[in-house]
Amino acid sequence: MANLRIGFIGCGGIANQKHFPGMAQQEGVDLVAFCDLVIERAQEGAKKYGTPDAKVYTDYRELLADKSIDAVHVLTPNVSHAEITVAALDAGKHVLCEKPMAINSKEAQMMLDARDRSGKLLTIGYQYRHFPNHATAKKVVDEGWLGDIYYAEASYIRRRGVPTWGVFTDKSKQGGGALIDIGTHALDLTLWLMNNYDVDYVVGSSYEKLGRLLEPEEQGQHDWRGNPDPWNNKTFDVDDFAVGFVKMKNGATIHLKASWALNMATKPGMVLLCGTKGGLDTYDGVRLNHVVAGQSSITMVGEKAQAFIPGFGGGEAPPSKEHEIWVAALKGEGELFVLPEQAFVVSKVLESIYESSISGKPVYF
Ligand SMILES: NC(=O)c1ccc[n+]([C@@H]2O[C@H](COP(=O)([O-])OP(=O)(O)OC[C@H]3O[C@@H](n4cnc5c(N)ncnc54)[C@H](O)[C@@H]3O)[C@@H](O)[C@H]2O)c1
Repeated sequence: MANLRIGFIGCGGIANQKHFPGMAQQEGVDLVAFCDLVIERAQEGAKKYGTPDAKVYTDYRELLADKSIDAVHVLTPNVSHAEITVAALDAGKHVLCEKPMAINSKEAQMMLDARDRSGKLLTIGYQYRHFPNHATAKKVVDEGWLGDIYYAEASYIRRRGVPTWGVFTDKSKQGGGALIDIGTHALDLTLWLMNNYDVDYVVGSSYEKLGRLLEPEEQGQHDWRGNPDPWNNKTFDVDDFAVGFVKMKNGATIHLKASWALNMATKPGMVLLCGTKGGLDTYDGVRLNHVVAGQSSITMVGEKAQAFIPGFGGGEAPPSKEHEIWVAALKGEGELFVLPEQAFVVSKVLESIYESSISGKPVYF
């Protein structure tokens, strides 16, 4: 079987941190095309990871016109995910698109429609599912230790952690701030762990407070691995904190919260699940809260969270499960792991929180 030929559209942060090294680890794959509006970024990617004859582009349409390319990764700001993914699917390419799927559910639906019309594969980059502690949590849930899950907390809280590279604080490019950027991960994980995508209604609030209010000298230190520089509060026009209440059709509720800047001490971990037989949280590894021999007990399940993204923290890149699964699916040797139908629900919930925040009303699905 000939090697798969892969192209990349967007050669910025996530391309260099995750997709280039992750795909370079895979067998039977050639990294043949690199596109970025900034040509130097495409050239750098091609030089470091590409085949000797890898091509570089500034216009993604030219890359998509190359019929020899089998699949592309869409790694641009959120606003262009749908446009580029639809064009790529219509050009006969399989697509791995970064999270969130799109800036709203209408655009996410256009991506699903293009997937259906093309018959090609489409998946979304929710790699937190592959963290060892989340994979363990999934096994705990699937083995029935929690029983019927009727309450969940999905939280991705940074006290100070505004991404200051790229266009993350520009609503016109990203469609939102903390909620669409990192709340999306916590919600994806929670829905996946619960294996419940049947939303009844959503109510929520999003805030543009500290992001705008705090001058650089008032911001304090970033306590997140991102760029430690202060953010520009004059151009900041997205939510820095958002909270949502998601009611599922089976009566379960999810409390979702996400922040880039909030005056609270943070705890690690993103998910708390409470069921009729037991509870689980990922605040310090995987903790199972249950009754054993009539005693209230906390069982630590497996190991604590480990970094898995190639290159994170430097040193030897650990194997990238996300790309291993993607390449197996491309070769017809495995199934997709993150289904776009699941990512669609995540995008619709986030959009509903933004809508509810403006209208003051719940949004029914
Ligand atoms: N899975 C994760 O945990 C994770 C982490 C970070 C970013 N992301 C996602 O990845 C996407 C990109 O984020 P990033 O941090 O790499 O941003 P970035 O700004 O570092 O990189 C984006 C790149 O895309 C290029 N670009 C923009 N429009 C383009 C177009 N039309 N054609 C070609 N190139 C274009 C930009 O010039 C830039 O180099 C976002 O959607 C973000 O949400 C996901």
